[in-house]
Amino acid sequence: MVIKGLKGVMAAETKISFIDGEKGRLIYRGYAAKDLAVSKSFEEVCFLLWYNKMPDETELQTLREFMQKERYLPGFLKQILDLLPANMGLMEVLRTAVSALGTEEYKWKPTVEQAARITAIIPTIIAYRYHREKGTLPVEPRQHLSHTENYLYMLTGVIPIPSHVRALEAYMILTMEHGMNASTFSARVISSSESDLVSAVAGAIGTMKGPLHGGAPSEVTAMLSEIEEKENAEKWIRDKLARKEKLMGFGHRVYKTLDPRAASLSEIINSVGKDDKWLDLAAFVEKKAIELLEEYKPGRKLYTNVEFYAAAVMRSIDMEDELFTPTFTASRSAGWAAHILEQAEDNMIYRPEANYTGSFMKI
Ligand code: ACO
Repeated sequence: MVIKGLKGVMAAETKISFIDGEKGRLIYRGYAAKDLAVSKSFEEVCFLLWYNKMPDETELQTLREFMQKERYLPGFLKQILDLLPANMGLMEVLRTAVSALGTEEYKWKPTVEQAARITAIIPTIIAYRYHREKGTLPVEPRQHLSHTENYLYMLTGVIPIPSHVRALEAYMILTMEHGMNASTFSARVISSSESDLVSAVAGAIGTMKGPLHGGAPSEVTAMLSEIEEKENAEKWIRDKLARKEKLMGFGHRVYKTLDPRAASLSEIINSVGKDDKWLDLAAFVEKKAIELLEEYKPGRKLYTNVEFYAAAVMRSIDMEDELFTPTFTASRSAGWAAHILEQAEDNMIYRPEANYTGSFMKI
């Protein structure tokens, strides 16, 4: 029997994260992701995912300093980023740039050092190319800033305010890891052939960019731009569902209740304290959409997913749409790396079978 999309198939054992889709729980290495998001730094949660324990002060400082040192772009990579065609989107650029980081120093077996290097450099690649696209001067990383603070600094050129750093950091922690999602599965499959960590991350980026996975947040903002005013929402959603099209930012393979990350992100948006027409419209559309999804797709348990709130958080900190999916990628790279490390501990190449439904001919 073919199980389409491997729905419900257990493809690995993992100690990295646990998702309870019915109760809406997300656990990283035993800790609730929502608690980590409000009490820990991005670097601390990286350490937790990669080493399976909370760091002590010295361990944390060592990882921080290593990542700070690794956030600078080598000259050859800047040249590549400058040469890529102008019509290449940030995700395609990121996939190409990560791939260009080479294989020699990243070769099998993967190490925590490799994981930290790739995670440290991704925000710099995004920020560098973002400035080039806009025709502004790329901002060099600042060594003493935290991972998230430095990312925002490189994007804007100014030291970010603490509430923006906290909002982005919480978002990045909440989206760092999520079990056997499509991009993580891609990373594990690539890694299972004993290929290098860079190839596994480049492949995962390719998976991440699709609209059914990480490409949804910018589609959420496109939807809200089209709706424009609250009074247009109901008709717009009804028309979309009547055409049997999907509403971006709703539904999840695993969660059949409110995504726990969505609830935390909603609190974070309030803590930024932005009174914004767009956020107000988003909250209205969310309510209306859940109501109408139940009418058009009864019993499917379709709720807001993290992508919907990702769009809202990014908006609340004035981040532009084109940065949504790359930023999601910057956080998820830490989770991919944790899975690549775990895959290597007890590796077996992934090799499922396909049921041939074609014909048999004679020449
Ligand atoms: N809008 C309308 N209908 C939907 C939606 C949606 N967003 N999501 C699911 N449905 C419907 C499907 O049409 C299907 O209906 P049917 O039973 O009449 O055929 C039913 O609900 C089940 O949907 P599936 O697509 O089979 O559910 P699956 O678990 O395979 O898909 C997915 C999950 C891909 C996330 C889906 O809900 C979707 O496409 N959502 C929109 C895109 C999106 O927001 N992606 C981001 C996901 S979060 C992340 O990746 C980080």
